[in-house]
Amino acid sequence: MPTLEAPALPAVPTHSPAVARIVLIGFMGAGKSTVGSLLAESLGWQFVDTDHRVEQKHNTTVAALFAAHGEPTFRQHESLELARALGQQHVVIAVGGGAPEVLTNRLLLEQTPGTAVVFLDAPLPTLFQRCKAQEGASVRPVLQDAVLAEQRFRTRAPLYRRCAHHSITTESLSPAKTAQQIVELLTLQL
Ligand code: S3P
Repeated sequence: MPTLEAPALPAVPTHSPAVARIVLIGFMGAGKSTVGSLLAESLGWQFVDTDHRVEQKHNTTVAALFAAHGEPTFRQHESLELARALGQQHVVIAVGGGAPEVLTNRLLLEQTPGTAVVFLDAPLPTLFQRCKAQEGASVRPVLQDAVLAEQRFRTRAPLYRRCAHHSITTESLSPAKTAQQIVELLTLQL
């Protein structure tokens, strides 16, 4: 009886695919949106801010969405926008500070080939200060209770670290310098 040979397995890539997407993660006030748009501009890539995408699509604000439908509904919309954005090439994506808390989002980040995840890190007082300075521009429902916000910061910190391929401490860096560091870290061509 002829023996059946096992089919050859596809070759396992020995190097990661070229970076086609950069995702910026970090707590509120980390600078994800500001750095992200600068970075996208210097690379000539598209910039997607998942909060803005949710707001545009539903013609509302994140704060109003939280108030009317609750955080779980916002998280569903956020995940959908993240998945959509990850389907694109040559895109810089800024996600909301809570996105990495959701397992599906972490899996999406981990399993989408060619995706570099960068954690923008800073101490909590600095983050609070930056958010305060931006107040009025956007209300962040998650910051309304300082004790809860601090708890979220502590819960999220290890998740940010685990999700990220690179971390940058932004405390003493301007957004432009941070964007430049990302280009250098990922050895991207401008
Ligand atoms: C949130 C952060 C916000 C926004 C929403 C919830 C969070 O985005 O997604 O208010 O849970 O940390 P930024 O991190 O861009 O402020």
